[in-house]
Amino acid sequence: MFDVLSTSYDAVGVDFFGPIADQLVGHLSPARGESLIDIGCGKGQVLIRAAKHVGQTARLMGIDVSPGMLDQARAVLDRAGLARVELREMDAQDPHLDGELFDIVASSLVLFFIPDPVRALGSWRTLLAPAGRIGITTFGGRDPRWEEVDSVFTPYLPAGMLDARTSGANGPFASDDGVAGLFREAGFSSVQTWNTDVDVTLTDAAHWRTWTMSVGQRAMWEAVPADKVAEVQEHATERLSNCIGDDGQIHLTQTIRTTLAGVTPGSAE
Ligand SMILES: C[S@@+](CC[C@H](N)C(=O)[O-])C[C@H]1O[C@@H](n2cnc3c(N)ncnc32)[C@H](O)[C@@H]1O
Repeated sequence: MFDVLSTSYDAVGVDFFGPIADQLVGHLSPARGESLIDIGCGKGQVLIRAAKHVGQTARLMGIDVSPGMLDQARAVLDRAGLARVELREMDAQDPHLDGELFDIVASSLVLFFIPDPVRALGSWRTLLAPAGRIGITTFGGRDPRWEEVDSVFTPYLPAGMLDARTSGANGPFASDDGVAGLFREAGFSSVQTWNTDVDVTLTDAAHWRTWTMSVGQRAMWEAVPADKVAEVQEHATERLSNCIGDDGQIHLTQTIRTTLAGVTPGSAE
């Protein structure tokens, strides 16, 4: 999926992944000289921000399973003067890095895609240098009007297909405690959580369609039969009219959960 949308991902005039990366990097607060690995780095929003804090010589690496995303990230990072950031194609479930250690492990909007998140967190823990820290973002709640818009897809979604933003409405990603529990199960301690609302601004319903096709939600469009696409868009357009602000633009709100943790010396296996 991410290979298919790598060109349009984060490139259709909606500032979404950047503000989320701001939250993550802000809470991780990388210091000058600290090394950082970004797991599921996408187009490098976290890496670009981290680079500003750690300086010219600190080690920065991004890994992602999608070659398309990595190609895009390479271009973005090179344009930002960050040719030194290393990118590797790798599965986040169990990244193998020959014993390389990092002061910071970061991962924005990735863990819920991974079949066994506790095992993944356990393998990410082995990438941490002593006294290192890990930070991730996941999705908290959405404004009810947005849920109403997205419900246009519900009749067409195959059983078991979940929106990443709501994945496991009853599972670990449904609550702060659930995500903190994953960290504790994986051997982390001192887990801290913050929630922040991120505003999504879209010019009109056509822009909403373009944006939803450029992110993971595209999977929902692909579940809609071709002869129903126009009808779904029409229903969504009606519901989006309830989300228009004083500026005439559509405003949707997503709560972003940032979770940070560390490893107490001696507690790791
Ligand atoms: C929602 S995007 C987030 C990208 C980036 N972190 C950002 O904030 O813009 C999810 C990313 O996770 C990557 N991804 C999904 N499953 C993965 C896996 N098993 N291993 C590595 N990367 C994965 C996707 O290719 C995609 O780049």
